[in-house]
Amino acid sequence: MAKNRTSYLCRDCGGVQAKWIGRCPDCGAWDTLEAFTESPASATTTVGTVAGIAISGINSGETGTGVLAKAVPLVEIDQLEVPRIPTGIEEFDRVLGGGVVPGSVALLGGEPGIGKSTLLMQAAARVVAGGRTVLYVSSEESPQQIRLRGDRLLGSAVADLADLYLCTETNLVRIVEEIRRVKPDLVLLDSIQMAYRGDLDAPPGSTTQLRRCCHDLVQLAKITGAAVVVVGHVTKEGSLAGPKLLEHVVDAVLAFEGDREHGHRVLRATKNRFGSTQEIGLFEMGGSGLQQLEEGGIAIDASGPGLPGSVLTATMAGTRCLPVEIQALTSTGFLGSAKRRGTGVDANRLAMLIAVLEKHGGQRLADQDIFAAVAGGIRVSEPAADLALALAIAGAHHGRALRPGTVVLGEVGLTGEIRSVRGIDQRLRELARRGAVAAVIPRSQAEAASDSGLEIHAVAGIGAGLAVLE
Ligand code: TYD
Ligand code: MG
Repeated sequence: MAKNRTSYLCRDCGGVQAKWIGRCPDCGAWDTLEAFTESPASATTTVGTVAGIAISGINSGETGTGVLAKAVPLVEIDQLEVPRIPTGIEEFDRVLGGGVVPGSVALLGGEPGIGKSTLLMQAAARVVAGGRTVLYVSSEESPQQIRLRGDRLLGSAVADLADLYLCTETNLVRIVEEIRRVKPDLVLLDSIQMAYRGDLDAPPGSTTQLRRCCHDLVQLAKITGAAVVVVGHVTKEGSLAGPKLLEHVVDAVLAFEGDREHGHRVLRATKNRFGSTQEIGLFEMGGSGLQQLEEGGIAIDASGPGLPGSVLTATMAGTRCLPVEIQALTSTGFLGSAKRRGTGVDANRLAMLIAVLEKHGGQRLADQDIFAAVAGGIRVSEPAADLALALAIAGAHHGRALRPGTVVLGEVGLTGEIRSVRGIDQRLRELARRGAVAAVIPRSQAEAASDSGLEIHAVAGIGAGLAVLE
């Protein structure tokens, strides 16, 4: 009989080592290697067998991706449309690229309590209302708890959802059996960390279990043609447990993030084989579940008081333009060890802008603790928000505000020059529509902005930008 072979797998990067060592030679992380036993039988899993159960196609007649595909000439491929199951929640579909794809596996990650189960339950109800069958596998909550949430989210509509199946099971073999019996179009597994295979000598949530269960689900999705969404909890460091381990196995990785105090939630794709990773979905958690925010971003109030340290700008999220508020605070710290912290802004960008303000803007910030944040849980990684962040810092430092309703757009270069931003006309149009009255923009784009209806301050350098604050 062939012997089981044990190798050691890094929880962080997925690298495989023959021996246990304290530090992963691939990614350099300490104490991340876990024993992983590959039995010869499972290494040669035949097509049609998942977790030891032979399984045949559920929707193979209906979907293109459900059956193992024959080779086709590349030129014919644009004729084949990717079939989709829309979740019916537009903000969710936007991020997915139109809906979940039959035969694919998507991973939905997020911190506990952020609303993953809520989102999936709401999506399940809409998919079932659209005439499809959904199996919701919950390994964390009791059926009564889930029914309670269902009632809270959907009210009396729950009674009409005869094709929404619920299963509270953690053993993957039994989950696969239920999938074979129910033949769902969509399987929701909440969560992958709790699923396990009894034939593996490792606890649920371990690298071995996660890897094997995820592989089984990918296999299952391919064979049955069902779309699968699995929930993955994010560790406190902010990464999916065993991130790289699952990321390369699944077809899409979605991150659900948010600002708990305000109820704002942002859904984004960090990987998507069937769509863009630029689009974001915006939600608000309320008393009856997640509400979609079609008009993302903040409202602009030109009649409010001007607040030092608060600057409005706009960020592009895929095809949408979102007005956002950048806030900064400075306070006296210690020269040489002043703190610089950013929430929702890029830390390197923040450090660079502080250096430009010092060098080319005549600001003395070396002994200032500087905090910067984006209000509303949206992350701004675009250089187009540079000037807004710089003016927020300088404004906070001197106690000066921009005129209310003023928006700021522009990338700041290392020599203090203000560079143009892409899509400025779309941004200005949207900002004007949302209530902006004036804009600080790069001088090179003054012409493009002339018909925006806003009072324009065109600036070429950081000094001129700071002068608008006076
Ligand atoms: P949940 O979907 O259980 O989060 P996750 O699956 O990501 O752990 O959501 C949990 C939180 O959402 C919980 O703190 C309560 C809140 N919530 C609402 O505010 N309104 C609602 O309608 C629901 C269902 C939950
Ligand atoms: Mg949950």
